[in-house]
Amino acid sequence: MGSIFKTKPIASLIAETEGKQGLKKALGAVDLTLLGIGAVIGTGIFVLTGVAAANYSGPALILSFILSGLACFFAALCYAEFSAMVPVAGSAYTYSYAALGEIWAWIIGWDLILEYSVSISAVAIGWSGYAVSLLDSIGIHLPKALTLAPLDGGVINLPAMLIIALICWLLISGVRQTSNLNGVIVAIKLVVIALFIILAVWHIKPANWHPFMPFGFNGVVTGAAVIFFAYIGFDAVSTAAEETRNPQKNLPRGILYSLLICTVLYIVVSGILTGVVKYTAFKHTAAPVAYALQQIGINWGSALVSVGAICGITSVLLVITYGQTRIFFAMARDGLIPKVLGRVSETHRTPITSTVLVGIVTIITAGLLPIGIVAELANIGTLFAFVIVSVGIWVLRVKKPELKRSFKTPLVPIVPILSVLSCGYLIINLQEATLIRFVVWFVIGMIVYFSYSRHHSTLAQGTSSEQVS
Ligand code: ALA
Repeated sequence: MGSIFKTKPIASLIAETEGKQGLKKALGAVDLTLLGIGAVIGTGIFVLTGVAAANYSGPALILSFILSGLACFFAALCYAEFSAMVPVAGSAYTYSYAALGEIWAWIIGWDLILEYSVSISAVAIGWSGYAVSLLDSIGIHLPKALTLAPLDGGVINLPAMLIIALICWLLISGVRQTSNLNGVIVAIKLVVIALFIILAVWHIKPANWHPFMPFGFNGVVTGAAVIFFAYIGFDAVSTAAEETRNPQKNLPRGILYSLLICTVLYIVVSGILTGVVKYTAFKHTAAPVAYALQQIGINWGSALVSVGAICGITSVLLVITYGQTRIFFAMARDGLIPKVLGRVSETHRTPITSTVLVGIVTIITAGLLPIGIVAELANIGTLFAFVIVSVGIWVLRVKKPELKRSFKTPLVPIVPILSVLSCGYLIINLQEATLIRFVVWFVIGMIVYFSYSRHHSTLAQGTSSEQVS
């Protein structure tokens, strides 16, 4: 039983990445910050702002973004220390292997599989919505049966499936190409957000900000739990650890810079959005940012924002899918899931099997499920990962104070505790159905661990052979 709590020595974690299966080291701090922004700004700001403003936060959407951003900031400080100390692929999964032991690593790895897969599917469904409406505006009308999931009145969401297939193909082709493409898309995304700010700021009517909290403070917190989705993705930076030059310095920079840039943009955009249009008007639009520009009569701006949003959401898909395949890669290397999932392609040196598997599963989910069910699960999965990483930082400071930390989370244990409390607070403000689905996923994970992973774990096998000899 002891082996389930056995931790992985950090030196061995780093050493095992230097074998012949290693990935190409091509990324620097700027690439990582772009990777972070690429993962973060997408469906959240372009779609969910409207949902949150109309149903929960009202003009206090800006407060919801600040609340959620604070929780992410505390968690990001913890991620930054871990990523610099354990610069290997796998993100929170790898960190908990070092700090808390195998069972926790499994729990978090299993949780991240949920977080990333449902995020990929949710974002792809959002992409499909934007793409379909843009095609509509130029006179190409796709039949509902091919653009909506069965529960939404269609048969299959074909655009969502196709975009995932395209993303997986790009990822299999190699990280350098993907990273360059990501840079271009991120630039487009930042330009359209700047365009929105510049065009709309002159049309703010302070009367739209009253009443400021139409659904009370509870509404603001529920809104924060919903738009938390907008922040998901900065942790994907740390999944690129093994492809990073000088990761001890560049990973914390990439994580913190990307979060900071996104938070500032979100606060500005949400303030302007609710100032330009009455919050109630967002009830029936799937494209609130473009809609706001239409309302003030700037149709060309609205069209440009739509195109930019499609590019932006594409880059989110690119980075999140990338993150998911690297988590599989790390778990397979540890024997917790079948080794074949860690196989690296000879030609491109990218994890080909895991990318194909992620592609198949998310293509099916995105094609057949409505966005609501998948999106809300992404938030709980991520918040739970943040809680475990934050606890892990504190545990490791106590258990292994001697380890070299190139980046130190300030004020430990205060910051980790604040992270746990703020993320926990957002979790309890999510819908009950989401909590139940999460528990079900957790129980399935435990069954898989005790029936398969525990017996195939490289760490456990190492332990038993030591005991035998
Ligand atoms: N943060 C990402 C988005 O908003 C997941 O699309």
